[in-house]
Amino acid sequence: MTYRILIADDEEDLRFMLELHLGREGYEVVSVSDGQAALDALTKGQFDFALCDLVMPKLSGLEVIAALETNAVTTPVVLMSAHADVDTALKAIELGAFDYIAKPFRADEVLFRLRRAVQQRALEVRVDQLEDALGERLEFSGIIARSKPMQTVFSTIKKVADYKTTVLLTGESGTGKELVAKSLHFTSVRRGKPFVAVNCGAIPESLLETELFGHVRGAFTDANRDRQGLFEEASGGTLFLDEIGELPLPLQIKLLRALQESEIRRVGDSRNIKVDVRIVAATVRDLVTEVSEGRFREDLFYRLNVLPIRLPALRERPSDVPLLVDHFVDKFNETMGTEVSKPSMEVIKLLQSYPWPGNVRELENTIERAIVLCDGSAITGEDLPERIKDSQDRIRTILNTDELSIKKTTRVIEEELIKRALDQTNGNRTHAAELLEISHRALLYKIKQYEINRPPKGQR
Ligand SMILES: Nc1ncnc2c1ncn2[C@@H]1O[C@H](COP(=O)(O)OP(=O)(O)OP(=O)(O)O)[C@@H](O)[C@H]1O
Ligand SMILES: [Mg+2]
Repeated sequence: MTYRILIADDEEDLRFMLELHLGREGYEVVSVSDGQAALDALTKGQFDFALCDLVMPKLSGLEVIAALETNAVTTPVVLMSAHADVDTALKAIELGAFDYIAKPFRADEVLFRLRRAVQQRALEVRVDQLEDALGERLEFSGIIARSKPMQTVFSTIKKVADYKTTVLLTGESGTGKELVAKSLHFTSVRRGKPFVAVNCGAIPESLLETELFGHVRGAFTDANRDRQGLFEEASGGTLFLDEIGELPLPLQIKLLRALQESEIRRVGDSRNIKVDVRIVAATVRDLVTEVSEGRFREDLFYRLNVLPIRLPALRERPSDVPLLVDHFVDKFNETMGTEVSKPSMEVIKLLQSYPWPGNVRELENTIERAIVLCDGSAITGEDLPERIKDSQDRIRTILNTDELSIKKTTRVIEEELIKRALDQTNGNRTHAAELLEISHRALLYKIKQYEINRPPKGQR
């Protein structure tokens, strides 16, 4: 494969020298003499790499890089400069330059850097291809995950985002319900309209009705003017009803009516107002139990449960832990201005074996705390809270003890392998049994014996 290279430099001798050497090496070379011409060429043409001078007429090398970024052109740019100081080099890399080379340089130095860039590029492309082939998305509108159950959540979001159908999000605290609610909105055609969130458990019952539906002047003592509620505020967009399980019964009827008729009535008003709002509701409660115990209306439950999305607990998807750890280390390094590197495999294993009752939120807080506590270079086991340090990897622990009982040891190993197989197969027991190379019946027996992974009642 021949690579196409763009050279941008106002010095004719240098362009000539580069054209000569790169051409000899088999690269296809195009050269221009100012920044604007470089930008035009890169935006229009198919170039694999660009070698850009820092100081050029019309646009500087850094301005070219910034403009490429804005235009979503991903051609890697190697900046060349005679103003060889570390600050400029760092700034260039920070702005998105692929590499930096100080003038004067020898031709073989440029060739060496280009070869390295080519290799790195090829690897990046390969990784992209492999990820595509695996059908695996690691990030979807701010949600980081690679596990099978979360991949299913991603594809559900993609499928349903554009419909007006009500979505009910369930899952333990900190599993990302609000994040999913936002991604349903921001990946949908409604994204230009408001996303309005309300926590039904945090507003006193007496205020919640006017909050949701608004009121007219004179509706009650303090109502000295008309006020629109959240339904109207969210018009054309999405209304996120968080903690829907806390909604008082009288308001449940009013919400049901609003959903069925697509219209609301302000408190104290006699007219109905049409509203076009997509409802996303979330709860940590098991609404089936709430219904059977009379705390939640059955008709509203069915109306909301048209499209349920269950967010799996973090302990059900340990394969997401390393990815989330990386993500949070990057995030907090950025906000705190630290340069703490990612924890070792050993620490990651420890984090994967902890049951995370507070799910992703607890992991996020744990990483933030560890970055503050660590010595500034890397997170170690010492920087983790006691509760996590104590929950050692069970397999390693049992193998490190004097335990000789084959029965006890294999039991721990079996349990762990079954959990992993179920995680990988999204809870599909037939498929999991195949991976484990045991019969379906044997797997069912062991799941029962070890009490593995039973989703809460009503969510099976
Ligand atoms: N898959 C994920 N990738 C990145 N961040 C995540 C992910 N899941 C959760 N988070 C982060 O974890 C925190 C908790 O998420 P979120 O508020 O969406 O949870 P929740 O299910 O609404 O919890 P609660 O029921 O307690 O309100 C947030 O800071 C969120 O950004
Ligand atoms: Mg929430």
